[in-house]
Amino acid sequence: MNVSIVGTGYVGLSTGVGFSVKGNKVICVDILEDKLNRINRGDSPIYEPGLEEKLKDSLSRGLFKATTDLEKAVMFTDVTFVSVGTPSKEDGSIDLKFIEEVSRQIGRILKKKEGYHVVVVKSTVVPGTTEDVVLRNIEKESGKKAGEHFGICMNPEFLREGRAMEDFLKPDRIVIGELDKRSGDTVAKLYDNFDTKILRTNIKVAEMIKYTANSFLATKISFSNEIGNMCKKMGIDVYDVMAGVGLDKRISPLFLWAGAGFGGSCFPKDVQALVSKAKTLGTDPHLLEKTLSVNQRQKTMLVDMLENRMDVKGKRVAVLGLAFKPGSDDVREAPSIEIIRKLKEKGASVVVYDPKAAGNMKMFFPNIAYAQTSRDAINGADACLIVTEWSEFRNLTDYDFSKMKEKVIIEGRKALDPNKVHGFEGICW
Ligand code: UGA
Repeated sequence: MNVSIVGTGYVGLSTGVGFSVKGNKVICVDILEDKLNRINRGDSPIYEPGLEEKLKDSLSRGLFKATTDLEKAVMFTDVTFVSVGTPSKEDGSIDLKFIEEVSRQIGRILKKKEGYHVVVVKSTVVPGTTEDVVLRNIEKESGKKAGEHFGICMNPEFLREGRAMEDFLKPDRIVIGELDKRSGDTVAKLYDNFDTKILRTNIKVAEMIKYTANSFLATKISFSNEIGNMCKKMGIDVYDVMAGVGLDKRISPLFLWAGAGFGGSCFPKDVQALVSKAKTLGTDPHLLEKTLSVNQRQKTMLVDMLENRMDVKGKRVAVLGLAFKPGSDDVREAPSIEIIRKLKEKGASVVVYDPKAAGNMKMFFPNIAYAQTSRDAINGADACLIVTEWSEFRNLTDYDFSKMKEKVIIEGRKALDPNKVHGFEGICW
């Protein structure tokens, strides 16, 4: 099929490249010309394992291109995915300005287009948005009727950063929220050659599935962190506990990893958006609010633990790992940000290292020291905090830490190999 995708963030680009890998002709649209030039040269603007190779391959096979020309993209394709950002407003609710604008533009183009076209919302939007905003705007601008002249679906994404290609090509499930059967059939055809379960629902259910899944996973993490904090006080390793708990099929072993809290562009924003929505509905979202507050406390717990060991004022503290998770260069809402901020507030001198995310962190902290290697960060430090579980940290040994002034090492993730490094402390173990 011919597919267009509006928005080339990590979801839009991974989805576009993914559909091209599956044999579709894809046109990705964005307003940022420089970014599109890079994409068209096969140079991925984001770090996502496997993405760049697949992008290059699809470009060379003529199955993929990126453009600023939304009109051509919609005219020459059968389906348009909307994958633009839905940032948070001050009050935590989502800002729909990009969704509003893109749906109006698509409406104006569909006014001129002959034949059937399906518009699919991929962005994470609160229930009601696809029908009340996207569908209405398109109807208004095109003068056409949804379900008759054009189709509407909501197809949430479940892609993890750092594993987006893998998650796209081998999903646990595909959810298609459809206005009517014809819209849903068109989108389902795109997923024909995927070996997974396809769940077809109405549009609001699909929108809510996405928020519920992310909120549940975030709650699972905060739950593990709360148990982990108790375990730590009792000298128990929470990972040993969760290994036993996760064997219960009703629970599953995944997302039970306690640590320095969740970050990223999804969990914090999506739980917050659901809390805001709940408030407008007059239901009190106690549990979801606690998911967020437990997480907030967890993010800086490493600094509290360090302060129990030393006065950090004037001390050199090495922070290893800045990305909100390994395999990514993304630092949005990363625990490292709060940790560095708090260390600086307390008067510490901070030196950081991350294999991928240093460039992005410079936008938040241009004036801290950025080391080129873990060893450079650690040498001469009074303390070392490990915030992201990059696999290279597993190779660190006692020798790497031997040039610290004081050997105070606290890990916020299971990152070090206890057979290679001795005398470190864990956040919940
Ligand atoms: C998350 C979801 O996992 C995806 O399914 C979803 O599509 C995506 O949000 C989205 O809404 O776009 P992502 O934020 O990329 O994906 O990353 P995760 O792997 O879920 O990790 C999120 C955060 O939780 C990270 O900071 C990670 O370190 C933390 N985490 C994860 C834990 O602290 N413990 C765990 O057990 C798992």
